[in-house]
Amino acid sequence: MTSHPALAPGRTAVITGGASGIGFATASLLLDAGLKVCIADLDDESLDHARNALADDASRRDAVLAVPTDVSRLESVASLRDAVLDRFGEVALLMNNAGTGGGGKSFENFEGWQRVLGVNLLGAVHGLQTFVPGMIEQGTPCAVVNTGSKQGITNPPGDTAYNVSKAAVRSLTENLAAELRNLEGCQVTAHLLVPGFTYTGMIRRFLPEKPDAAWLPEQVAERLLEAMGRGDFYVLCPDNEVTPEVDRKRIAWAAGDLVENRPALSRWHPDWKAAFEAFMADEEA
Ligand SMILES: NC(=O)c1ccc[n+]([C@@H]2O[C@H](COP(=O)([O-])OP(=O)(O)OC[C@H]3O[C@@H](n4cnc5c(N)ncnc54)[C@H](O)[C@@H]3O)[C@@H](O)[C@H]2O)c1
Repeated sequence: MTSHPALAPGRTAVITGGASGIGFATASLLLDAGLKVCIADLDDESLDHARNALADDASRRDAVLAVPTDVSRLESVASLRDAVLDRFGEVALLMNNAGTGGGGKSFENFEGWQRVLGVNLLGAVHGLQTFVPGMIEQGTPCAVVNTGSKQGITNPPGDTAYNVSKAAVRSLTENLAAELRNLEGCQVTAHLLVPGFTYTGMIRRFLPEKPDAAWLPEQVAERLLEAMGRGDFYVLCPDNEVTPEVDRKRIAWAAGDLVENRPALSRWHPDWKAAFEAFMADEEA
């Protein structure tokens, strides 16, 4: 497997939301590949647990740093950067991955909106503002991964605040990629990770057993590193139920709402149910 040039042995990865799920699985794979890893997360106890699980043999102890961090606070992310540079001296990969849900509908639960946008969107902005100038300055191959969601692309009704936060993460990351590629001599690339349904802490809270439909976080982490090695910007992951073809069609249908002047979110509109189903079944579409 070709690896992204930033992901070379001895380099450093910083992963927010790294104590659990997709962040933890990515940290583990990168350690296997010989990188040093800093995981950042909210809770001291889960960070300790994650650090011990990652540094399971003595040779790895020096390669793992765990820093309590609240990504929704700029000063906390600045302290994270200082701790990483102090210990490892550089950053090759920044993965803005910390995430939370349960924000609510458009006209309710303002506190939920503040929490979800504070973590999912501002958390990523804080990461970029704090780390990216130094990564550009280093003049070494580097990468930024922001974790988005299919919910930020196709917008299924339910948790509007989450959808909005992840749609914004997509826009943020697309703009970041364009900004970086227009900077002369810049060696930092940007990537948008879009997991499918993945059995992680976020899901375990509602479903104690892994549903067959879900992928494991390790599968998402493997897909991410493979895609980065190919130089992909969009890292759209399937799961055990949703194939890449189904994703492609759902995304095309969602874009069609605008260009065909259909009602908003027509996929979930009763008058459009049959047309959507016919589109999904059409092998030519
Ligand atoms: N699991 C899925 O099906 C799925 C699908 C699409 C996108 N995602 C996204 O993947 C990312 C990783 O989530 P996961 O599924 O691995 O869930 P997870 O709950 O296992 O991991 C998320 C981590 O983020 C941490 N976190 C939350 N708020 C934080 C804050 N303010 N500061 C620092 N850390 C904070 C949590 O403590 C947790 O450890 C999230 O951005 C999530 O939105 C997950």
